[in-house]
Amino acid sequence: MQKISNLKTSSISRRDFIKTSAAGAVTVLAGKSVIFAAPAPRKMRVGLIGCGGRGNGALQNCLDAGEHIENLELEVVATADWFKNKAEATGEKYNVPASRCFGGADAYENLLHTNVDVVLIATSPNFRPVHFEAAVKAGKHVFMEKPVAVDPPGGRRIIEAGELAKSMGLAVVAGTQRRHQASYLRTQYAIERGAIGKIVGGCVWWCGGALWYRNQNPNESDADYMVRNWVSFTEMSGDHIVEQHVHNIDVANWYIGHPPENALGFGGRARRKTGNQFDFFSIDMDYGDGVHIHSMCRQINGTDGGVREFFRGTEGQSMGGGRLQGRDISTPDFPEHKGPYCQEHVDLLNSILRQEPINEARNVAESTLTAIMGRISAYTGKMIRWTDITENKNSPWYNLTIRPTAEDFEKGEVDAPLDDIAAVPGRDK
Ligand SMILES: NC(=O)c1ccc[n+]([C@@H]2O[C@H](COP(=O)([O-])OP(=O)(O)OC[C@H]3O[C@@H](n4cnc5c(N)ncnc54)[C@H](O)[C@@H]3O)[C@@H](O)[C@H]2O)c1
Repeated sequence: MQKISNLKTSSISRRDFIKTSAAGAVTVLAGKSVIFAAPAPRKMRVGLIGCGGRGNGALQNCLDAGEHIENLELEVVATADWFKNKAEATGEKYNVPASRCFGGADAYENLLHTNVDVVLIATSPNFRPVHFEAAVKAGKHVFMEKPVAVDPPGGRRIIEAGELAKSMGLAVVAGTQRRHQASYLRTQYAIERGAIGKIVGGCVWWCGGALWYRNQNPNESDADYMVRNWVSFTEMSGDHIVEQHVHNIDVANWYIGHPPENALGFGGRARRKTGNQFDFFSIDMDYGDGVHIHSMCRQINGTDGGVREFFRGTEGQSMGGGRLQGRDISTPDFPEHKGPYCQEHVDLLNSILRQEPINEARNVAESTLTAIMGRISAYTGKMIRWTDITENKNSPWYNLTIRPTAEDFEKGEVDAPLDDIAAVPGRDK
């Protein structure tokens, strides 16, 4: 086996890539011919649904991406949040009139009724299937944060809406930003071309400290409480195996080329006070043909951490977006403007301008469903098959819908689950 080596880069530099694309030439990227039409001067109107930490970050990333692309003008025209004051606070930063800063359960619908062209969706994940489907049906291009569902029907709904977006020529980019990160793109490119042979196993991690939590205020509705304290409730986040660890699971699915056939694992709750999530998970993801990936995640202070991926191949080994030990493969110099969080918007906007819309709905939905499969296994103690959540309508997991749903929130029918009551494997479904 060769020494660990950095991947080589080819002669297409980022500057050349941008120059070539602006000139409307044909070049080769990732082994594929790509036609870059000279972008016409254009203006795109942007709206944000979910004006929290990531939403505000994504909006700025999008505007930074717009500045980087020649002949493109972006304008923020509308904002929406469960809490109107949050929509207004973001709107104020970008001179959005108060009349287009929407609050409440139907805020997303009001935003979709404006003349917005591109919608960024960054609410808690439980709302994603309803909001994404509505955005597509309204004819909008979409950037949506990961994960994209909390249960199997939600994941399948994203896939269906993604297919509809495809048929309508709409672009869809997801917040699984490693797919827009140069180091990961180079590693994936090399692995796909045999740099480590066939992947036969590996491990993916998201282990770290506890996240924040919020207590319910006196007289606060259950709905408002769950929206504010969403990272503590499986109903809102999907649990942290879905909410955070989906990033690493997504890398495994991407590098291996398909989701696992089944998942069997366990987890538990050790330190949490609010909500009903587990604190740790350990799942064997069986990709078939003898390929196993160990997925592990933990949110407990004072424990050893790590956010990474490792793959063992028949002829080498590699970290997710880092050191690779195996055959040297020459790789293109993938562009990355201001980091992957901005590059994902560069890719989205360029794909709209070139009329070659990217569509990442299926990828992110499958990675979300993979994480959901692991969570169901840990909660129940059962082996969950991919077909149980995607095809087999007789499976008890196929229609597993966790409530309150996004529709329940819209109808005002929300009872928060009891705090500190978690699933018991062997007993619960
Ligand atoms: N890609 C990444 O690395 C990354 C990083 C952080 C967060 N995220 C994802 O971004 C999403 C948001 O996370 P955050 O950290 O910004 O959370 P946050 O709590 O800061 O923001 C969420 C916002 O959405 C609003 N909201 C909730 N339900 C809504 C609804 N039905 N309609 C309109 N607005 C609604 C909330 O009031 C809040 O302002 C999550 O899916 C999270 O997993 C991704």
